[in-house]
Amino acid sequence: MSLEPVNEVALPKRDASHTPRRVLVLGATSGIAEATTRIWAREGANLFLVGRNAQRVASVAADLKTRGAAYVDTAVADLDDVDGHPELLARAITSLGGLDVAYVAVGILGEQPTAEQDVNHALHILHTNLTVPVSLLTWLANFCVKQGRGTLAVLSSVAGDRGRKSNYVYGSSKAGLSAFLAGLRNRIDREGVTVLTIKPGPVKTGMTVNMKGSEKFADPNKVAEQIVSAVEKRKDVLYTPSIWALIMLVIRAIPERVFKGLNL
Ligand SMILES: NC(=O)c1ccc[n+]([C@@H]2O[C@H](COP(=O)([O-])OP(=O)(O)OC[C@H]3O[C@@H](n4cnc5c(N)ncnc54)[C@H](OP(=O)(O)O)[C@@H]3O)[C@@H](O)[C@H]2O)c1
Repeated sequence: MSLEPVNEVALPKRDASHTPRRVLVLGATSGIAEATTRIWAREGANLFLVGRNAQRVASVAADLKTRGAAYVDTAVADLDDVDGHPELLARAITSLGGLDVAYVAVGILGEQPTAEQDVNHALHILHTNLTVPVSLLTWLANFCVKQGRGTLAVLSSVAGDRGRKSNYVYGSSKAGLSAFLAGLRNRIDREGVTVLTIKPGPVKTGMTVNMKGSEKFADPNKVAEQIVSAVEKRKDVLYTPSIWALIMLVIRAIPERVFKGLNL
């Protein structure tokens, strides 16, 4: 008879030999990022966490330590302040003693109805979701090219694949990000640096908690498993859950004259 502790959840067995050793997480309090870093922590990774809420960053760091992370350091920073990026990134890499993976999760959903009336809100969404990752990734890409290796794993969205009336400002920020990542990959893949564009469909996190039907959205732990596997396999683009690759293929194929009349 097995005497397993009753409260232990059975975790899938994984070969940890491909686990990245040094991971920088930008937007570490994100629901998707937290689920992902828990897997890496369990496998003994070294983590540097950046978030803007000191208390939440400290609590995520403490949790990851108890889950097995070999090393956890943190920085509290509002990433909207792009001028602070170079110093922050240099500090993180010094703390980790190098870099295997930079995981960019920072993002805001914003409010589409507000963005339609208030251009400052629209520009804020574009700043956090596009300008901020572009600033971080330009620095990180050049660092990785210099060392001749590394992975840049970035959370974009299926929302960037086609503009819809219900979220086209957020969607356009992610479309810009996906295009930036495609071009960056085309520039630096040949230098030994992997650029992974992650396109989740709707996932149950703090970002979507107030959305209609959110209880049916994807489990962040399942999404995180696919992200970890895509990093290991050095994939270029990941739709997660996988069904979203097919859904977006269909959505992209709808002719514009039909699409403009749909309530999406
Ligand atoms: N959930 C989904 O359905 C879904 C689908 C497709 C793509 N995504 C993308 O996945 C990424 C992670 O989202 P999530 O679902 O995990 O939502 P989340 O829990 O709300 O995560 C967003 C993260 O971005 C951080 N952030 C926002 N503005 C920041 C700033 N100025 N400085 C520092 N950190 C900032 C948030 O920090 P605070 O905790 O302090 O707010 C939070 O850690 C986002 O880029 C999102 O667009 C999510």
